[in-house]
Formats: sequence, C-alpha cells, structure tokens
Amino acid sequence: MTTVKLENIDACVFDAYGTLFDVNAAAREEQAALGSQWEEIANNWRTKQLQYTWLRSLQKKHADFWQVTGDALDFALSTSGIEDAELRDRLMNLYLKLSSYPEVKSMLESLKAAGKKTAILSNGTPKMLDAAVENAGIGHLLDGCYSIEDVGIYKPDPSVYQMAVDELGVAPSAISFQSSNAWDAYAAKAFGFNVVWCNRFGQAAERLPGTPDAEITNLSQLLPIVGAD
Ligand code: LAC
Repeated sequence: MTTVKLENIDACVFDAYGTLFDVNAAAREEQAALGSQWEEIANNWRTKQLQYTWLRSLQKKHADFWQVTGDALDFALSTSGIEDAELRDRLMNLYLKLSSYPEVKSMLESLKAAGKKTAILSNGTPKMLDAAVENAGIGHLLDGCYSIEDVGIYKPDPSVYQMAVDELGVAPSAISFQSSNAWDAYAAKAFGFNVVWCNRFGQAAERLPGTPDAEITNLSQLLPIVGAD
C-alpha cells in the first residue's frame, strides 16, 4: 500500500467505466445465456470498445460511446459465434445499469465530508453516465459529471482532461485524477493532473509518458492520499 500523500488537493476526478462502475457486470449477469465464454466475451467487448474510441478519434470519425459500445458488443458476440438480437439488447440495457464497485459510495461520502469537490470525467454519453450514476445512487455526492461528447474526441486527447479543469474551475495541480485504466491514468498525468492509478486488475505498468503519483487497488485507499481519512 502506498504512503504517498498529495498536498492541496481541492477536487477528485474519476474515470467511470472500470473505475467507479464494473464493466464486466453486464456479461456476468447474462452468464447463463453466454455460457462458459462469458468472460472472454466481456474482455473482447471492453477491449474492442476502447480500440474503437482510439481508432475513431484518429480517423476523425466520431461516434458516441453508445454506438461504439454496441459495435464492440457485436464484434465480441460474432467472435464467439453468437447471433441473438434479444441477448444483444439485454446486454446493452444492462450496460446502462452497471453496478458500482462496493467501496465507491462510502469513498465519495468521505471526500465530500472532507470538503473535496468530486466529478466524473468519462468517454460515456451523458445519458449513459446519468443512468449509471442514478443506478449507483451517487448523484448527490458529485459536483460534476463530464462527458467527452462536449469536446467530440475520446480520451486520451488532452482536451478531455482540460474539460475537467475548465468545468470545475480548479487548477490541474489541485486535482487528483483516478482511473483503473492504466493508459488513462498515464495520459492524465502527462496532461498535468496528480494521478492515482486504481490498479484493480493487477496490470503491469504502461510504457507510456506520465507515471502516476500513486497506485492503489481499490478506491477506499485514495482517502489518506488526498487527506480525506
Ligand atoms: C471512461 C472509460 C475510459 O469512462 O472507462 O472514460
């Protein structure tokens, strides 16, 4: 466990998918229909979803995260030889109701009690994010929920991270950014945030610019780092 302390943090900004919300929850709930391949399908779905965000940004052919998520699911199901329109619809609807990780709500309560601003900064569309926030019952604990739809390009374009600075009115040096997606954490550090990488999945360090300031395995470990314990 890290002993890093970040001083003078006014705001904590969180990635959404994989960080606050369990991206595997939809496929897990449809385990019975997906069979023993469910984890492979969940992994292919997520991997392809992220690849499509990067590819579309490079191509300058933006499509919103709902479309990209659906396209990635179609790819993942097809890879596993599954053709089932009703199952596809159920999985997409479940993506609107992904459960949050167990520590998320109490962690946000502690940050608010310590006087920190809190926000989500995500690739998700406003509709997807609103649904996940409502489902998790954390709306009253957030000062902002920012979607890349406002800049029309996906992470890790620096304009996405700048959006949190502009919306919160807090300098990057007073923001701690948290992501479980290592590439997102590294890019946010390269942008200029303080960064805590929530390495939930035990991944190896990225070979990219921007080593995060601290590494944790769940978000409750963030509290002492930002002085909210
Ligand atoms: C997001 C993806 C990267 O929420 O998880 O932006």
